[in-house]
Amino acid sequence: MDRYNFAAGPAALPSPVLEAAKAGLSNWKGSGQSVMEIPFTGDEFAEIHQEALSSLRLLLDIPSDYHILFLQGGAYGQFSMLPMNLLRGKDRADYVVTGHWSRRAADEARKYCSVNIAASGSASRYTDIPDWADWSLDPQAAYCHITTNETADGVQFSALPDTGPVPLVADVTSDFLTQPVDIKLFGALYASAQKNAGTAGLTVVIIKERLLGQPLPITPAVFDYTRLAKNASKVNTPPVWSVFIAGLMFKWIQSEGGLEEMAVRNRRKAAMLYEVIDESGLYRCAVAEKVRSSVNVCFHLPDQDLENAFLFSAQQRGLLNLKGHSASGGIRASFYNAVSEEAVAALVVFMRDFAAENSRASYYYVRDSNG
Ligand SMILES: Cc1ncc(COP(=O)(O)O)c(C=O)c1O
Repeated sequence: MDRYNFAAGPAALPSPVLEAAKAGLSNWKGSGQSVMEIPFTGDEFAEIHQEALSSLRLLLDIPSDYHILFLQGGAYGQFSMLPMNLLRGKDRADYVVTGHWSRRAADEARKYCSVNIAASGSASRYTDIPDWADWSLDPQAAYCHITTNETADGVQFSALPDTGPVPLVADVTSDFLTQPVDIKLFGALYASAQKNAGTAGLTVVIIKERLLGQPLPITPAVFDYTRLAKNASKVNTPPVWSVFIAGLMFKWIQSEGGLEEMAVRNRRKAAMLYEVIDESGLYRCAVAEKVRSSVNVCFHLPDQDLENAFLFSAQQRGLLNLKGHSASGGIRASFYNAVSEEAVAALVVFMRDFAAENSRASYYYVRDSNG
């Protein structure tokens, strides 16, 4: 039986990347050493690091006045590193709360500065994003933070806001490298690697040169963007293996046609799933159509027993890791770049079969809506 992995991260990796990783595991470029064994100060790692940097710069067309940092601590670590590094003498920042992860980001930032919630999706229970014309942005804010794709809620910005002179800073963890973006629109953006850029342990930060230079005095050396940028991200031992895998991922994406092609594939995969959800009567996706995620599709069935039955039957068919995030419940199908259209097609067939077998269950919605 074929098995397909719909995990939200760590997530599926493409087979060519796993194959190339095998070589790096035991005998990198015939050196007789594993990538995990080489010194981070040596020529071998310098080559791996440089290749990953150049491939990413090419993929995203990153301008020369932006630094790329390869860090540790996950995107969660960035929730603190951002205010430590980007307040630059100011005492406040704007946060736009569109779901689970942006809420966490704002909570962490409150430890360092005053947080203005410029907009929140709470009124819609995070099923919609307020129109940016209605945001209450603070012109004195050091930056404005958004989460471009809410992994737990399945909500994604369809266009970037204009925050005027206030730098836009974004957590792009779950839609990083899934579509082209104009880096020039951001002051900084960051992503954990374990969704679209390889394995856990690496966090990529892309930051405009002019925002560097004013960390808070309490900023630990290993969290100091300015110091990290000056030292090619090597203030302490970098995650050598994760950087190696990320380099393989960047090259694989390029070889598959780059970000435009990824966007086309991801949109096609998402359309297949939303279609079966909307036509079924059994599945419910509460997210407003214009902000539905192209990589994390979240939905519910009428009750918990049916959701458990769905997850059990899916597993029997080789469709793995479909349980929703603990904060949101329900079902979540994540299909980053490495998840094939064939995998999504298999899920769609299963969902149609399950809906047909449980067609009576959709009456519960009618009962519920009639009180
Ligand atoms: C959008 C988003 N931000 C932040 C995080 C936290 O990432 P990490 O666990 O790597 O710190 C996640 C994890 O899934 C995420 O999806």
